[in-house]
Amino acid sequence: MNDRLASLRRWAWRVYNAVDYPLRQWFRLRRPGLRLRTRAEADRFTHLAAEEKVRAEAIHQRLRSAYHLEEFEHNSSPVNYRENLFYLDLLEKALDRSGAVLPQQVVAGDIGPSHWFYVQALAALLRWWRRPQGRTVALTGYEVDAYRVYGDLHSRYDYALAHMRGLAGVEYLPRGFWPQPGRFHLLTMLFPFVFERDHLAWGLPGKLFRPGELVAAAWASLQPGGVLIVVNQGLEEHRAQGEILAAQGIQAGVEFCQEPLLYAYPLDRFVWVACRGS
Ligand SMILES: C[S@@+](CC[C@H](N)C(=O)[O-])C[C@H]1O[C@@H](n2cnc3c(N)ncnc32)[C@H](O)[C@@H]1O
Repeated sequence: MNDRLASLRRWAWRVYNAVDYPLRQWFRLRRPGLRLRTRAEADRFTHLAAEEKVRAEAIHQRLRSAYHLEEFEHNSSPVNYRENLFYLDLLEKALDRSGAVLPQQVVAGDIGPSHWFYVQALAALLRWWRRPQGRTVALTGYEVDAYRVYGDLHSRYDYALAHMRGLAGVEYLPRGFWPQPGRFHLLTMLFPFVFERDHLAWGLPGKLFRPGELVAAAWASLQPGGVLIVVNQGLEEHRAQGEILAAQGIQAGVEFCQEPLLYAYPLDRFVWVACRGS
């Protein structure tokens, strides 16, 4: 019965999304000028026990200084700032463990950024990781559903631009990712859809669900020595993602679970990192 209900729900999503998604692409709703609310937070890790709080604050201080987050800290909301800290810590670990070397002028892409609430972390990582003097960044976000509209009638596109404020060399493209052979030093896929049910529940048409094709397109788009970082939520999704990568002949030599210290999500965050041979 549960299986029948689930497949009925998937069928209903497929029908609904086949109409709703093309309408969004047709209307392309954007209302420029969105300004995000900001608020300073005196005590950041109140939910943690004393010892953990000290450890979290130490990581925070190090990240803030190494990645020059001072301005962002004062111009963001507490939740957004902590989520960026979590993403930055995770991505830094992924790069550290990958053995990668990023050049002075780095070309990077993020596949499926949604409203890009973590773009400040990604841009800071690219600019400052193991390069105290900084590097030049060209970062593109590829979002296939940029015109999805939220309750306040602003689209994902509006929110992405608001989160990108002040970042040089960063662009948000309202279209799906396509293979661009040998272009990128780094590609990130943060929570790509692994199961069709999630893809449909997020409002995408069934025919766009091609997880194997998407990672293959990313892999083909890396330069020799380039890095692909894929993050998933929950062990089930992580394992399924591993099978998708393996089926495309992509060997992810690094795998880890990010501890929920800087931000606690309901499901653990797991990471795969693959380096393209040079
Ligand atoms: C689960 S969300 C992850 C959002 C974000 N990266 C995060 O960390 O929260 C997956 C995103 O991928 C987008 N997406 C799915 N297929 C895509 C494709 N082929 N090209 C670009 N974006 C895609 C979806 O529209 C959605 O915004």
